[in-house]
Amino acid sequence: MTNDLADAQRAHLARLDQAYAALLAEHGYDGVLLYSGRAHRHFADDQHASFATYGHFLHWVPLAGLEHSWLLIRPGQAPCLHFHAPRDFWHLAPQLPEEAWVEAFEVVYQEDGEAPRLPRGHFAVLGEVSEAQAERLGAALNPEALTLALDELRVRKSAYEVACLREANRRALAGHGAARDAFLAGGAELDCQLAYLKAARIRESALPYQSIVGINAHGGVLHYQHYDAEAPRQAHSLLVDGGHRYRGYCADITRSWAGPAASDDYRALLAGMDRLQRQLVGELAPGIGYVSMQERMHRGLAELLVAHGLVKASAEAAFETGITRAFCPHGLGHLLGLQVHDVGGRQDAQGRPLPPPPAHPALRLTRPLEAGMAITVEPGLYVIPMLLEPLRQGATAGMLDWARVEALGDHGGIRIEDNVVITGTGNDNLTRDLEASP
Ligand code: GLY
Ligand code: MN
Ligand code: MN
Repeated sequence: MTNDLADAQRAHLARLDQAYAALLAEHGYDGVLLYSGRAHRHFADDQHASFATYGHFLHWVPLAGLEHSWLLIRPGQAPCLHFHAPRDFWHLAPQLPEEAWVEAFEVVYQEDGEAPRLPRGHFAVLGEVSEAQAERLGAALNPEALTLALDELRVRKSAYEVACLREANRRALAGHGAARDAFLAGGAELDCQLAYLKAARIRESALPYQSIVGINAHGGVLHYQHYDAEAPRQAHSLLVDGGHRYRGYCADITRSWAGPAASDDYRALLAGMDRLQRQLVGELAPGIGYVSMQERMHRGLAELLVAHGLVKASAEAAFETGITRAFCPHGLGHLLGLQVHDVGGRQDAQGRPLPPPPAHPALRLTRPLEAGMAITVEPGLYVIPMLLEPLRQGATAGMLDWARVEALGDHGGIRIEDNVVITGTGNDNLTRDLEASP
């Protein structure tokens, strides 16, 4: 770790110290106990699923795979980390890294992973804790108001957090380049995934989400979950949605590539989507509403569909009739941080819910942008037969050039997703900056 990052992390922890003290006083607690969590065991089996540390724990302690550990925060005292260090010859016991942040904590090594006894007072316990455990502790379990307030604290990133997001982007981009090269060399989805992992130097279970690697029509399956081991005879397109984690902070990047058998329509739409995505990013600044950006995306998609002859009506009609929503049913983006879909996107600064509008139920970010927010910007355009079929049956049937739409089906879809931090006056595109000068 560079000295700069260590200094930035100290400042980040000092900011957390202050903010927690203020919030605990406001909510009437003497302290809060945060539980890192534990991996879940498969039913009737002795094998475990992969694990990610609880976000509020991770906000303090940058160890994304740390199980069975507890962090006690009390205003005016050093945070006390009850670090799970079992005597176990089956596994390698976790060890604290030799990093500067450790000095900010009081560390208690604990063999059994049980919750520590709490001092006298009024405490909350947050995390995947049972009611019985909370009762034994005498603490309020996951109180909603405090949890929402702590979520809000994660919405605006510190300089340290932005540095971590940038590093996660750098590592993910190495994977994306390698996946593209594997595809262009004739590889199957599995080859692309393996190339991604190798270049990004990460194992699958440590990714913030399972990479989506879709060749041809699979690019149109929004959360496509398989990796074909056979390459297709004709390689039209590749869509890779792949991330990384650095100190818990997630990258979430999508790139779409034309293959040797790509049609002219697909290539033109890919270039158009790239322009649209850059244009949308260019508009992001504090005060801009993300619901209005979602509509801007759909207006841009409408223009694109008309310009390339897939829609034979006006862009206004393509927008108003909902044609564009059949081509892109997901949101323009979401908050990004310790979770890939980070907390706080659908609430206001006081924790009051801000649900998405009925026309855009999948939108995960409904609040105006503020300096310090880290977000994704991921417009997409897909051929999804289940969503296009109603258009063919309805009043819009004559507005589409169905032959061209169907010809695009072999190409699946296009998504271009960058990670962007909102600054005081505009934004900083972490992903494109690194692509331009790695
Ligand atoms: N990778 C999930 C998403 O883009 O939201
Ligand atoms: Mn993504
Ligand atoms: Mn995303």
